Amino acid sequence: MTPKKTKKRADQYNDPNHDYFQYWQGREYEHEAEELAIRTLLKDKHFRSGADIGGGFGRLCLLLEEYTDHVTLAEPSKQQLAIAKDFLRDHPKIDRKLMQADALDFKKGELDLITMIRVIHHIPDPAIEFRELARVLSPDGYLILEVANYGHAINRIKHILRGRPLPLDPVDIRSKENQHIGEIAFVNHNPKTIIKQLAHAGLKVERTLSVSNLRSPKVKKIVPRPLMLLAEQLMQPALAKMYFGPSTFLLVKKAK
Ligand SMILES: C[S@@+](CC[C@H](N)C(=O)[O-])C[C@H]1O[C@@H](n2cnc3c(N)ncnc32)[C@H](O)[C@@H]1O
Repeated sequence: MTPKKTKKRADQYNDPNHDYFQYWQGREYEHEAEELAIRTLLKDKHFRSGADIGGGFGRLCLLLEEYTDHVTLAEPSKQQLAIAKDFLRDHPKIDRKLMQADALDFKKGELDLITMIRVIHHIPDPAIEFRELARVLSPDGYLILEVANYGHAINRIKHILRGRPLPLDPVDIRSKENQHIGEIAFVNHNPKTIIKQLAHAGLKVERTLSVSNLRSPKVKKIVPRPLMLLAEQLMQPALAKMYFGPSTFLLVKKAK
């Protein structure tokens, strides 16, 4: 048997100086926009076994529990899992397991729902991870993959004004100073490239949504959140084809 090729440990969220739980304070619109997208993609489906890969402290596991008999929070950071222990204390059926996306501790076809949200911006080349997702996904299962979208409307306008095409390769979005600090990659992807990479791993996109379309501190200050979410609900499907928002949600299945 060929040994499984794995990457180095993705434990960058074991950082006492970074409070990812705190990061979500004031980002209720973004959180609810993501929940909305997941609900739209899953509709009235129900699953046997689900996992949130790179799920952090379990922010979205509570939603997954509504759709799945059994949920696993699969996360490579011990620090995030420790926060999850408290965050998910009233949800004892949610398993918390230390693992990373290029070496998933699940059997072939074991999962019929996988979510991976806000993770591949830390993975510039996700080819190995996509192969792993395809391996553990059941033949009729669904993967919801979030892509930090370089090709969002504002970037698109900037590129048009500069007369430059959108890059197909991932773009490092850290500031020049920060590119040398720490080990964690921070990239935005071109969704069209991601769709090709998924296809290469035997995965096919069934539906796309444009998410967090109104993500702007100024808009959030002026417009009441219920109104933003109403607009968001209309915009997610309507603007999907043009990859308008900063976040693209893909509903993915195994290619037959
Ligand atoms: C921005 S947080 C997102 C957490 C969660 N998905 C959410 O949306 O709240 C990024 C997460 O990805 C995890 N991560 C980073 N590299 C990973 C990898 N190679 N495989 C799985 N998870 C990874 C980090 O430990 C961290 O918890």
